[in-house]
Amino acid sequence: MLSSYAAHFDTPAGYLDFARFGPPSRDAVAATARALEASALAGHTTVDDLMRAEVTARDTAARLAGTDARHTVLLPNASTGLFHAAFGIPEGAVLVSRTDFPANHYPWRRTAELGRATPRWLDPEPGAGVTPGLVRAALTDEVVAVSVSAVDFRTGFRADLAGLREVVGPDRLLVVDAIQGFGVAEMDWGAADVVVAGGQKWLRAGWATGFAALSDRALEVLQPVLTGWTGVEEVGVFDGSEHPAAADARQWSITNLSPVTAAAFAAALGLVERYTVAAIEEAVARTVEELTEVVQRHGGQVLSPVSPAQRAGILSFTVPGVEPGVVAKALHGEGVTPTVRADSLRLSPHASTPAEAGERVAAALGSLGR
Ligand SMILES: Cc1ncc(COP(=O)(O)O)c(C=O)c1O
Repeated sequence: MLSSYAAHFDTPAGYLDFARFGPPSRDAVAATARALEASALAGHTTVDDLMRAEVTARDTAARLAGTDARHTVLLPNASTGLFHAAFGIPEGAVLVSRTDFPANHYPWRRTAELGRATPRWLDPEPGAGVTPGLVRAALTDEVVAVSVSAVDFRTGFRADLAGLREVVGPDRLLVVDAIQGFGVAEMDWGAADVVVAGGQKWLRAGWATGFAALSDRALEVLQPVLTGWTGVEEVGVFDGSEHPAAADARQWSITNLSPVTAAAFAAALGLVERYTVAAIEEAVARTVEELTEVVQRHGGQVLSPVSPAQRAGILSFTVPGVEPGVVAKALHGEGVTPTVRADSLRLSPHASTPAEAGERVAAALGSLGR
């Protein structure tokens, strides 16, 4: 079944950088081309017709997040969602990991500068992420929210969302950046109050796609500080008066998005739903396991959690005594695309990644002569 999934993509065998960018499917490319072509021939129904893709994308994202359309809104990226969440909290401390991706830092720094919510930094153990124990130890009465990545961008560490919910209790908000796991890891999204994801990585929808799923509690307590003209009631009535923010997740809309990227997003989400997250996750886990074995066999030191239950699709490693840039050069020479960092390398395969990728990584690491 997953071989027919792979047939939807033209991605080279050695492409192992899905944690940075997920090359879109042929379906998403075709949907984009069709929508853009239709927009060039615009008639009186064209814009409304194209905008139907937004409904399809939103509804599919909602189903995959285990919620419904009322609680789901399309966004242009994950960061916009994190800014909405941050600006929606009027005051208090928010627990955020110092090791998290900076997209989860700046919104909280900005709100602090405005005298609203303030970040309180967590320092996870190396290789681990934000655990329920770490959060429990940092909880005080001032803490109103916790903002975490579902899957750590550096190590692939998978957060225990249900455990985090249990620790924070029903009154504090649990904000989750799902971009490194949504669509490839079955996680307890229902435990979060805010789930945000961009579609350009694991969902393989291309840039300028994404969504947020909000709980009833999030809709109730987050102030609609960034709500724009498309996020209010009676959107089409231009009467010069202030309209109340929409009661549902649409209150996170600042303006219209692109129906062209929505078409790509709808196609990408449809593919995930058709093949199922469970099947995609299993295929990714198998490849991560194979790559782990290859890296270790060639003297690499794995920085990601070793237990499959604690990790998702990201494998970080170093080769002791060899600069990451040198390892990268060897990988590039075998047609492998890793993420290269100053201190490590990261491999992130998808369900379409063939076994050949492991052979290429083995050949590259073997050539280092260790
Ligand atoms: C964990 C994490 N959050 C957010 C982002 C940025 O997402 P966006 O560009 O959709 O805001 C990235 C990567 O670019 C990431 O790894």
